[in-house]
Parts: sequence; structure tokens; C-alpha cells
Amino acid sequence: MGDKNLFEEAARLIKQSRKTIVLTGAGISTESGIPDFRSPGRGLWEKLDPMEVLSTGVLYNFPEEFYKVGFKILSSMRNAEPNEAHYILSEMEKEGIIFGVITQNIDNLHQKAGSKNVFEVHGNTREGSCLRCGKKVSFEILEEKVNKKQIPPCCDDCNGVLRPDVVLFGDPMPYAFDLALKEVKSSDLLIVIGSSLTVSPVNFLPDMVRHLIIINATETPYDYKADVVIREKASYALGNIWDIIKFQ
Ligand code: APR
Repeated sequence: MGDKNLFEEAARLIKQSRKTIVLTGAGISTESGIPDFRSPGRGLWEKLDPMEVLSTGVLYNFPEEFYKVGFKILSSMRNAEPNEAHYILSEMEKEGIIFGVITQNIDNLHQKAGSKNVFEVHGNTREGSCLRCGKKVSFEILEEKVNKKQIPPCCDDCNGVLRPDVVLFGDPMPYAFDLALKEVKSSDLLIVIGSSLTVSPVNFLPDMVRHLIIINATETPYDYKADVVIREKASYALGNIWDIIKFQ
């Protein structure tokens, strides 16, 4: 099928779906200037080992290492702006076309674009917490302390080590994942946008729905299962699909 037919088929599936939910990965934010993790030749994990830079093992045993490298990756994501794809998903939610967005991203761009039902299954870079007393702090406080070379940053109340509220390799899944699971189970269409679908347990979600649309620049392990696979940039594909839904 040519691109136009793929967009039309995707629009048809979305229009006939009783409940549609979206799953996004780092690929939806590359057009906002944030590198993804696994794009061949450009992904972050080509240069760094995730188990080294963003894992609980390094955070707990070598906090200085964690704050020198991993933390910088988290900070770098915070000053990006949403792109067309984020805004279209926000409009689709407002129009009741999609229920909401499950995101593996920690860049807060869905919320910045106006999405309300956002399930951050890999945490966020808005807050941090104390490992000892659990006190919540803003991410800015973490950044301030790290910039003042307080590494690891420590809690003002109990002097425990502070950590970002991002789900690191080795962390349990957050409650947001339980909520996302519930919503996927009651959906009949999942639209995956910009994810290699290689990290579990999030990559179990495509197995839980009757209909699946994948919009991704490269192939994923779930392409065989999808009703429609669109090998295009997220904003280009979503722009075309949204125009068909609105004007046809
Ligand atoms: N449009 C569509 N797809 C894109 C675009 C784009 N503009 N840019 C990149 N992609 C695709 C890439 O081809 C790649 O397959 O997006 C996918 C991004 O995959 P990953 O880099 O693996 O990101 P993601 O799937 O979100 O990773 C999951 O791994 O490192 C952990 O916790 C981290 O949440 C992350 C998780």
C-alpha cells in the first residue's frame, strides 16, 4: 500500500475504534531535538551503556558516576519544546478521538503540548525524592545541588541521597504502569509512535489489543502483528492521518 492508503487505513481504524490509546517512545521527541536511544548511528545507547549511566546499580553504588553522566542526559531533555506530533495527539484527546497517551518519555512534552491523560510509565524529570526519608524535591533543586558540586545531592531534612523520579534500569515499574495496563486492556486500538518496542514490560502492551497501528522510522518486533505499519516520521504521519479524520 502507498503512504496515502496507509494513512487512510489508519484513519479508518481510528474512526471505527470504540476506545483508542496511544503509546509513545523517544522517537516522537527526536523532532524536538532530543536524541532517542536506539536509532541506528544516532541513538544515545550507541555511545553509552544504559546499565552504566541510568541504572539503580550505578545510582546506589557509584552515585558520583551516576550524577556525572546519567543525570546530565536527564537534564538535557528538560528544555525541549513539543513538536507537531505532540500537539496533534493533544488535539485528538480534546476531540475524544484518543483516550490518552502512555509514554516511555520523561521529557514532559505531552503535557507541555496540552495532553491531559498522560501515563508516564518510565517516570518524569519534574521531581526527585530522598532515598532515606522519601521527601519530594523539584528537579531544579537536584540540578542546583549538582551544579554546586554537591554530588550526590543530599536531602536538606535528613541528609539522605536524593534521586530523580525517573524509572531507572533495576527500578520496579511505577503505579502509572498499572493504570496504563488497565486502560490498554479496555481499548480496542493501540497506536504506537516512535518506539523500538524493545524494553519490557512496556513492550508487552501491543499484545493486549485487538488492533494495532505502528508509526515508526525503523522496524519493530511487533510489525508482523500490526494492522498498519507506517515507516514515516511521527509528525508527518500524524498530520496526514489527522487531516483525513477531520476533513473526510
Ligand atoms: N518518527 C518516527 N519514529 C522515529 C523518529 C521519528 N521522528 N525518530 C526516531 N524514531 C524511531 C526509531 O527508529 C526507533 O525505533 O523511534 C524509535 C525509538 O526507539 P528507542 O530509541 O528504543 O526509544 P524507546 O522505544 O522509547 O526506548 C524505550 O528504553 O532506554 C530505555 O527508558 C528508556 O524509555 C526508554 C526505553
